[in-house]
Amino acid sequence: MYAQDFTKTLLDWYASHGRDLPWRRGRDPYAIWLSEIILQQTRIAQGTAYWERFMARFTDVKALAEASEDEVLRLWEGLGYYSRARNLHAAAKQIVALGGFPQTLDGIRSLKGVGDYTAAAIGSIAFGIPAAVVDGNVYRVLARYYGIETPIGTTAAKKAFTEKAQSLLPAEAPGDFNQALMDFGALQCTPASPDCRTCPLAASCTALRTGKVAQLPVKRAKTAVKERYLSYIYLRCKGMTAIRQRGAGDIWQGLWEPLVVEHQSAGRSDSWPEWMDKSLLMPLKQGFRHQLTHRTLLTDFYLYTTAQRPSLPAEYRWIKERDLAKFAKPRLFELLLEQLP
Ligand code: ADE
Repeated sequence: MYAQDFTKTLLDWYASHGRDLPWRRGRDPYAIWLSEIILQQTRIAQGTAYWERFMARFTDVKALAEASEDEVLRLWEGLGYYSRARNLHAAAKQIVALGGFPQTLDGIRSLKGVGDYTAAAIGSIAFGIPAAVVDGNVYRVLARYYGIETPIGTTAAKKAFTEKAQSLLPAEAPGDFNQALMDFGALQCTPASPDCRTCPLAASCTALRTGKVAQLPVKRAKTAVKERYLSYIYLRCKGMTAIRQRGAGDIWQGLWEPLVVEHQSAGRSDSWPEWMDKSLLMPLKQGFRHQLTHRTLLTDFYLYTTAQRPSLPAEYRWIKERDLAKFAKPRLFELLLEQLP
């Protein structure tokens, strides 16, 4: 099957199965822009009612620009991601200042709250600009049909899928093609249970032929979140305690921490310093979980009271306990301090 056949089959499907959405009935860029901003993070079923309320209250961009931000935010209430509403209002003012809706991709892209995807959607739908949109639906449909195994969520995928979508885009109907792909992904080629039996592209679908429908699109492997086992030990010696400052290029750079011992396993039987008399360790709190992006820190807090200063590595500093407040500390250290008797 040729690329043109994919495009033609998809457009035919859209003509009979595409969703009847109110903003698709005209070509008013204001109405289309409003719909795209609402649909950025909201499902169609919920977004449609909001679109209708906005269109009823602000019939054109000038009315929106002249409204108070408070009123715009109130009308947006319940949709979430309120920066969208503030950007919408700011962009309405931009458009009025420009003397009308921008009609080039760059012009549309320069509006607040409009990124590559939204600019391509508005440009193609409202002005017939041949710019392909690439969203989750597009990844899925193209990955399956063409058997593309590039993991999505990578820059390589964005490039490959954008080029593919762009090569399929019909110059005479880019808006319909883009919306056809969105609807096809939402209604026919769905994530979990695509309806291949009734699919008009089934005869030439690579994934269907090779039995890979459920495996495509390939998702990028999530970076494994590793667990690290730490003991935070508050040393107490005659009203003094020892802390050290974390170095450059480290997490919590510049912050101060107590003695920290890292263990290889959750059992924590290893890595204790030679000098330590473990019978003096008083547990304050066990297994405190602290989530970082690629690490889960599982931390035990202890108090170690001794009459003799242990010999610590040179980077530790002994300070008066009452001076601790003067040092910037990570949250974990603060939590330890809250547990101290
Ligand atoms: N999601 C974002 N924009 C859309 C549109 N124009 N039609 C359907 N779904 C969408």
